[in-house]
Amino acid sequence: LRDLAGKVVLVSGAARGIGRAVTERLLAAGCTVSAGVRDAARAPQGSTAFIYDALKPDTAAAWVAGTVERFGRVDALVNAAGINPRATLLEGPDKAFQDLWSVNAMGPIHAIRAAWPHLVECGEGRVINIASLSGKRVRNDNLGYAMSKFAVMALTQEVRRLGWDHGIRATALCPGFVDTDMTAHVTKWPREQMSRPEDLAMLAEALLRLPNTASVAELLVNCRHEDML
Ligand SMILES: NC(=O)c1ccc[n+]([C@@H]2O[C@H](COP(=O)([O-])OP(=O)(O)OC[C@H]3O[C@@H](n4cnc5c(N)ncnc54)[C@H](OP(=O)(O)O)[C@@H]3O)[C@@H](O)[C@H]2O)c1
Repeated sequence: LRDLAGKVVLVSGAARGIGRAVTERLLAAGCTVSAGVRDAARAPQGSTAFIYDALKPDTAAAWVAGTVERFGRVDALVNAAGINPRATLLEGPDKAFQDLWSVNAMGPIHAIRAAWPHLVECGEGRVINIASLSGKRVRNDNLGYAMSKFAVMALTQEVRRLGWDHGIRATALCPGFVDTDMTAHVTKWPREQMSRPEDLAMLAEALLRLPNTASVAELLVNCRHEDML
């Protein structure tokens, strides 16, 4: 297993929810965490905050450049920033489809593109995209969210295809319901039976510890039984 001490990891969406739990877990493992956040004051203690707003693509490049200037390298990127406004087939609104595409799909693209040369350079680069079970099947009444997460599944495969010979390994980490602000509106499944952000953080750490010869393409995490998943 890989020693994570001293590894420099970029985590988007680090202020809240899964991204925050991942940040705290990786800090405890000895990583240097560069937190990509919209409000620097809300980055977890112990991380180094950089401004990253998925709706402002230039901030991805500045986040990575600032990280490399400060720490000299990038070993891994965890794309955890995401949104889930409702966007349905028959009602839209189209604006929500566009926002979902911009934040959930293009956000990770810009962050990966900016980090790419550094991930190549370190020889064992890692990308974890927090996708969703909504990237595997359409079950909830939010087509726009599902489409954005299906896109993240394709993006993850492309990172593996393009990065493999450079030692880059990528995983789509796909939870169902997780007890965060994002599920605040969910009533069809009890909150205490949702996955915990800390459980996802543990899996993210495990993924980063795996060597180049044991790469997980997709990791599906259920909090409720589903026939096909
Ligand atoms: N919760 C679930 O049930 C669940 C299930 C499957 C997958 N996921 C995925 O897991 C990831 C994390 O979700 P979560 O549950 O932790 O949600 P959350 O608690 O709502 O946190 C969302 C995070 O994304 C950030 N963010 C939102 N818009 C952004 C933007 N334009 N630019 C940069 N950052 C932005 C937020 O930053 P601010 O604090 O600045 O708003 C926040 O840190 C998302 O990709 C989500 O789709 C969640």
